Amino acid sequence: MNHETGLRAARGLAVVLLLVAWAGCDRPASVSPTDTGENRAAPRVFTIGMSQCNLGEPWRVQMNADIQAAAARHPELRVIFKDAQNDTLRQRAHVEEFINVRVDLLIISPKEAAPLTEPVARAMEAGIPVIVLDRAVLGDRYTCFIGADNVRIGRAAGEWIKRRLGGRGRVVELKGLMTSIPAQDRHRGFREALAGTEIEVVFEADMKWLEPEARREMESALARFPKIDLVYAHNDPGAHGAWLAARAAGREKEMLFVGIDALPHEGVAYVRQGILDATFQYPTGGEQAVETALRILRGEPVPKRIVLGSRVFDRTNVERGGDPLP
Ligand code: FRU
Repeated sequence: MNHETGLRAARGLAVVLLLVAWAGCDRPASVSPTDTGENRAAPRVFTIGMSQCNLGEPWRVQMNADIQAAAARHPELRVIFKDAQNDTLRQRAHVEEFINVRVDLLIISPKEAAPLTEPVARAMEAGIPVIVLDRAVLGDRYTCFIGADNVRIGRAAGEWIKRRLGGRGRVVELKGLMTSIPAQDRHRGFREALAGTEIEVVFEADMKWLEPEARREMESALARFPKIDLVYAHNDPGAHGAWLAARAAGREKEMLFVGIDALPHEGVAYVRQGILDATFQYPTGGEQAVETALRILRGEPVPKRIVLGSRVFDRTNVERGGDPLP
C-alpha cells in the first residue's frame, strides 16, 4: 500500500467510525410525548419542568420532595425544579424558560390564578402538556388539574367549628392569598357551613398564606376584641402565627385554633402538642402529579381533574391517624 492509498483508507475508516458513533447517539429534544422510543437502544429520558411558586412553607418543600421521590422511581424521568420565591413575575418567567428549552411536560403550582393563566396556555400552544397542581389557573387551557376539594375542606372546617362552639361564638378568619383559588374556596365552604348559626366572624384578614403576616393580623384582632372564641386560618402556618400572637398576649387558652394542611411534622404535630385544636389535611399531590405525568408522556389519556381526599385531625383522633372527612 503506497502512501496515497493508505491515507484514503484511513479517511474512509474515520468516516465509517463517525457514522457508527452518530447512529448510536440518543438524539435528544422535540420528540413527541407519544413517542416511547421503543425502537431505540437507549430508553428515552423525559424532562419535566416543575415551577414551584414558593419554598418558604414546609408544605411546598414537602411537595417538591414528594415529586422528587416519585420521579426517582422512574429512571426515564428527569425533573428540573424552579422556585419563584413567592414572586408572580418570576414564576411567569420560569414558565417561559421551560417553554424555551422545550421540556417534555410542565408541572406548575401557581402562586396566583389570573397572572399564570396565559403562560400556562402558551406552554400548551407550544405542545407542552401541563399539569396544574394544588392552586388552579383560570379556564381550561391545561392538560390536568390535581388537588383536593378546598370548598369541601372549608365546609368541613366550618362544620367542625359549629359543633365545637355549639353554634355560637366570635371567630377570627385568617385567609390565604385571596387571588389564589384555594383561599377563595376555603373561605366559601367555611361561610356556607356557618350560614344560619350564631357564629360571628368578627375579624377577617388576608394573611397571604404566611405565618408572620398571620401573626401581625392576629395582633390587630387581639387588640380590637377582648373576647375571641376561635381562629380559623386557611393553613397551619397561619394558625400557628395566630397562636404565637395570642400566646404573646397571654390569651392563647381563651380560644381554639383550627388550620389546614396537616403535615405530619407540622399541623398534626401541633395538634399533638395542644397548639392547634384541629387541622384538615391538604395532600401535596406530588406523587399523583408524577404518575399522571408518566401517563401523559406515554400517550395515555388522563382525566381533566383529579380530586384528592382529605382527613381531619383533632385531639380525639390524632393518635389513631385522624378520620376521613365526613
Ligand atoms: C403553601 C400553602 C399551603 C396551602 C397551599 C394552598 O404555600 O399556603 O399551606 O395549603 O399553599 O395552595
